[in-house]
Amino acid sequence: MKKSSVYDCTIIEFDQHHSNRKGNLTVVENAKTVPFDVKRTYYLYDVPGGESRGGHAHKELRQLIIAASGSFAVTLDDGNVKRTFTLNRPYQGLYVVPGIWRTLDDFSSGAVCLVLASHGYDEGDYIRDYNDFMEYKK
Ligand code: TYD
Repeated sequence: MKKSSVYDCTIIEFDQHHSNRKGNLTVVENAKTVPFDVKRTYYLYDVPGGESRGGHAHKELRQLIIAASGSFAVTLDDGNVKRTFTLNRPYQGLYVVPGIWRTLDDFSSGAVCLVLASHGYDEGDYIRDYNDFMEYKK
């Protein structure tokens, strides 16, 4: 996925199960809702206002990023084009393909960033230096 583009990354809308005065429920299920099998789930929370997270790319990892609560911005960069998505709906997920530099910022108070990932944690899959990323994309 060295040649992947920000246009390969899309917002996926999940089903919502409304129950009038008792709130909503959304299901995310392998093979149905997610374009990969989820192997790992993690979440970011208590991110202080003004802080940014991410600042790296992955070589193989696919992710679905969900604002489970609150809002934040995700900027995707394929080395050529940048796109920023504001995530603020728990029934939407941003599908991020490999080979994309991502930065998360503008976290609202109480925001929870839920990430569903296609592989277990592997530091070797990260590209953490932007110059290395630009080399990788050549
Ligand atoms: P990192 O991916 O750099 O966080 P972010 O991109 O959100 O700023 O991870 C932060 C730390 O957490 C780093 O020391 C690695 C560790 N970590 C795990 O141990 N397992 C995981 O699944 C993740 C995502 C991170």
